[in-house]
Amino acid sequence: MNIVVLISGSGSNLQAIIDACRAGWIAGKVVGVLSNRADAYGLVRATEAGIPVATIAHRDYPSREDFDTAMQQQIDGWQPDTVVLAGFMRILTPGFVRHYEGRLLNIHPSLLPRYKGLHTHRRVLATGDRLHGCSVHYVNAELDGGPVIAQGVVQVHPADNEQILTEKVHKVEHWLYPQVLSWMASGRLVYRDGSPLLDGQKL
Ligand code: GRF
Repeated sequence: MNIVVLISGSGSNLQAIIDACRAGWIAGKVVGVLSNRADAYGLVRATEAGIPVATIAHRDYPSREDFDTAMQQQIDGWQPDTVVLAGFMRILTPGFVRHYEGRLLNIHPSLLPRYKGLHTHRRVLATGDRLHGCSVHYVNAELDGGPVIAQGVVQVHPADNEQILTEKVHKVEHWLYPQVLSWMASGRLVYRDGSPLLDGQKL
């Protein structure tokens, strides 16, 4: 399975996916990494792993549609089976999402449908929730609203702060994303009529 990863920052999830491919956990290969920021550390990680990289800066394009069209051309040149958003911080146009329907995944740092959008750890602490986590989902036109495939849960302790929660959730993300991608690569996870099926069962 050819995987293209889109990033905007540190790329620790990208690293987890690269490592899982190398270890044979995912029967796949990261064939390209695209960033909208030239200074994203994930580009260094990809280059060190010998993976082709590209930067397409959203500021260089007059509209979201033009930016997404440029990204689509770059991504399709890598011929991916799966496109993975891993800390990619731009909202995608409906046309882009439709083009990759059923093969576009995102990881979000909350137990969706709770806490869509930004600053999830801060909002969890403010609410006083005892459970938090992350969700891997197919991307559809609604922000953080596509069908959820899998979630990882962490406990929130009274003494936790935003940084501790970020670290706790990252740890879970680093096995959850590879796990979902391994299911996809082995054919256990498929997307049919807008729903994820694992081993033929609706999730
Ligand atoms: C992760 O917490 C992910 O859930 C969110 O952005 C963060 C990316 O972290 N979408 P990294 O760049 O993979 O380290």
